[in-house]
Amino acid sequence: KPLVIAVDGPSGTGKSSVSKAVARALSVSFLDTGAMYRALAWSCLNDGIDPSDTARVAEHCRTLDLAMGTDPRSPTVSVSGRRIDREIRSEEVTAVVSAVATNLDVRADMLRRQRELIAEGVALKGGTVAEGRDITTVVAPDAPVRILMTASEEARMARRSKQLKVAVEQTRSQIIDRDRADSTVSQFTTAADGVVTVDTSHLNFEQSVQAVLRVVKE
Ligand code: CDP
Repeated sequence: KPLVIAVDGPSGTGKSSVSKAVARALSVSFLDTGAMYRALAWSCLNDGIDPSDTARVAEHCRTLDLAMGTDPRSPTVSVSGRRIDREIRSEEVTAVVSAVATNLDVRADMLRRQRELIAEGVALKGGTVAEGRDITTVVAPDAPVRILMTASEEARMARRSKQLKVAVEQTRSQIIDRDRADSTVSQFTTAADGVVTVDTSHLNFEQSVQAVLRVVKE
């Protein structure tokens, strides 16, 4: 039976790295949906499109030649054949990604792409681990395994600042701003019905992976 594992959560919970490791352990595909919104944001900036111009951004998204490599050992992101894995993590992209991600036409288009990629992983590898902010609720609400990854604000800030090599205080304001900007898309105060919460506040990377794998086996 198709193994679709949906993982949602805010940044700093370990969601991306843990989901990738789970996909590796299960030999299935891995889809980072946040990277898709980041790719669109990067492409808008690259083409001089104002991220807040909703009509133009939506049109740009519809024609975006976006390719996601879903091998969990080396996931890739390309636009028009150009690899942009590093570029999409820049501060410039992070600052505007919420603006393009809260565009409803963009979300409808991404939803279609994400469902296709998840189905492709099922067809080729027997399953997909898809992570993001609306996977358990919108993209794959029927997935047999649905997980909400959470962590205390303290733990999230500490992880993010370590990852970006910047001061905790700077990270705090950036995370709070983005959580607020994303709040129309996702709110993580309570897990949706049938979604299992995995709190990684006091878990290291390996323990978090094991915690998710335990949920999968249940
Ligand atoms: O940096 P972080 O891991 O928090 O974020 P990400 O997973 O790379 O996602 C970047 C942005 O994409 C988020 O801040 C959201 O604006 C958007 N996003 C979304 O709207 N829906 C998703 N399923 C995934 C990401």
